[in-house]
Amino acid sequence: MDTHQLTPTEAVAAARTLASAARANRPTTWRYETRELSSVGLYTHRWGATAWCLGPPDEPAALAVVSPAKRPRPGWGRYLNRILIVTHPHARGTGCARALDDAMIRYYLDCGYTRLKTTSGTRAGWAVHTRRGWPAWALNKHRQLVHDAPLSADLARPGVPPTAAALGATRPMTESEQHAALDDPTGPYARD
Ligand SMILES: CC(C)(COP(=O)(O)OP(=O)(O)OC[C@H]1O[C@@H](n2cnc3c(N)ncnc32)[C@H](O)[C@@H]1OP(=O)(O)O)[C@@H](O)C(=O)NCCC(=O)NCCS
Repeated sequence: MDTHQLTPTEAVAAARTLASAARANRPTTWRYETRELSSVGLYTHRWGATAWCLGPPDEPAALAVVSPAKRPRPGWGRYLNRILIVTHPHARGTGCARALDDAMIRYYLDCGYTRLKTTSGTRAGWAVHTRRGWPAWALNKHRQLVHDAPLSADLARPGVPPTAAALGATRPMTESEQHAALDDPTGPYARD
């Protein structure tokens, strides 16, 4: 399947298509999904973020929104902030999120970006990030896991990345610390 960079108007239409699929199919995370997808207009029209989709824009298999930082972080280079990724409920588990991330990473590496940061909004999102080897460094104020990783293995470097340091991290979280956050019955992952 092809990937496409979308205009803000196309992004909002793609988000509406995925939100109605979430409402129709009711995966456990459907409330999270519809809420996030309803913000795509804000992210793209107002914040200047960029949306990408896998498959035809009017029938997306997956949609992602990223915000490429304008200025490099001293010593760490230019960051790509992955704000959102959603796969159509019927296409889940078939590699769509991986394929869309791969295509975006290739594109932004070519543009000189070096690192990616993102947040796990759901358990499935955390699984995607963990399978890619993107370490979680800390919890944000919403108690979501925050990941920060090089865009490719050859760009890895020692030390604590700046956003992780700002959250008080001195090392990546261990697997058991991450599971404790995921299994916290009062935390954001309790619903899924
Ligand atoms: C999270 C989501 C985007 C994953 O999309 P997907 O297209 O099904 O993911 P993929 O098939 O590309 O899977 C990528 C990897 O993550 C793993 N993975 C994906 N979903 C998983 C799940 N629910 N449980 C465990 N592992 C999972 C896959 O096994 C795969 O691993 P591999 O590459 O080593 O084989 C999708 O479930 C979704 O849209 N969920 C609702 C919105 C959401 O949670 N977004 C993420 C917020 S951070």
